[in-house]
Amino acid sequence: MSLSIRRARADDRDAIAAFTVDTFSWGDYVADEFAGWLDEPGTAMHVATDDRDVPVALGRATMLSPTEVWFHAARVRPDRRGRGIAGDLALTLMDWARDTGALVGRLLIEDWNEAAARHVAKIGFRPVAAFTLGVRAVGDASPVPAGNGGKRAPARLRARPAGSAEAEPAYSSWSVGPLGRASRGLFGVRWAFRRLSTSDLTEAAKHDTLWEIGAGWAVATRGDSGLEVPWIETRPEDAGDLVRALIDLGSSVGVESIRVWLPTTDWLVREARREGFEIHPMTVHMREL
Ligand SMILES: CC(C)(COP(=O)(O)OP(=O)(O)OC[C@H]1O[C@@H](n2cnc3c(N)ncnc32)[C@H](O)[C@@H]1OP(=O)(O)O)[C@@H](O)C(=O)NCCC(=O)NCCS
Repeated sequence: MSLSIRRARADDRDAIAAFTVDTFSWGDYVADEFAGWLDEPGTAMHVATDDRDVPVALGRATMLSPTEVWFHAARVRPDRRGRGIAGDLALTLMDWARDTGALVGRLLIEDWNEAAARHVAKIGFRPVAAFTLGVRAVGDASPVPAGNGGKRAPARLRARPAGSAEAEPAYSSWSVGPLGRASRGLFGVRWAFRRLSTSDLTEAAKHDTLWEIGAGWAVATRGDSGLEVPWIETRPEDAGDLVRALIDLGSSVGVESIRVWLPTTDWLVREARREGFEIHPMTVHMREL
């Protein structure tokens, strides 16, 4: 059966919704996001269609900076998987990204998703950095932490808002430290990873989302789904205190949950586990364009 690739259109939504109801154990979000994605500047969304022009696969690319593109939302109808369709779509999106100025492309895959890892390896991506998403309820819904007899050690440190002058030392500390190395200079904004620069931390400070925590820092934003922590800087000896201070910050701003993106290092993931975070290991893959 012949397939074509073209830009997605508004009237593709129902066909895409029909094969993305239960992509993952928790469902899928692409049908809900589809209409909004169509109009976003700096993005491309393509579909592979069958000989009746009905979509059987979807893929999307978003420019995160003038030279960095992020690929996501790869979906292939279950009965069409295993034929390289996601790869064909990705190659088309890569052409678009190159024409738009991208020099490097990246994407994120949860470590359990072997099919996705195999798909991207075949089109030239390689794993570059491991991140762990830690998720934890706070406040009344707080879990009992593992170890330490179920008692949570009191936080020795307190998060306090950091001004713009903190951006430079925070960035310098991170870029030469174990977390900057483990993350290969990347940080994640809403599941999309690009290079961090000092100006990202300056911006965070301006928006009151950069926090100083003892000898470390964090970017933490109160969002719809709780406290989002896309970036932290700490050292092994302070990591437990920093994690506990973040949990307290979540409680004090009244959210029900906290989500922290941790560059995967044994010591940091261990502290997060100890403080009752659910752990979701993931890997950023990249390729030059
Ligand atoms: C990941 C996904 C987009 C890959 O698309 P695809 O067009 O099937 O990709 P490929 O044909 O290159 O196959 C990739 C791997 O899928 C697996 N696979 C093969 N046939 C399959 C089938 N019928 N059903 C499921 N997986 C299959 C194989 O491991 C294959 O690797 P191999 O070719 O080295 O054996 C597709 O499986 C999918 O839609 N999955 C659900 C959504 C998802 O996980 N998206 C990625 C999020 S990061």
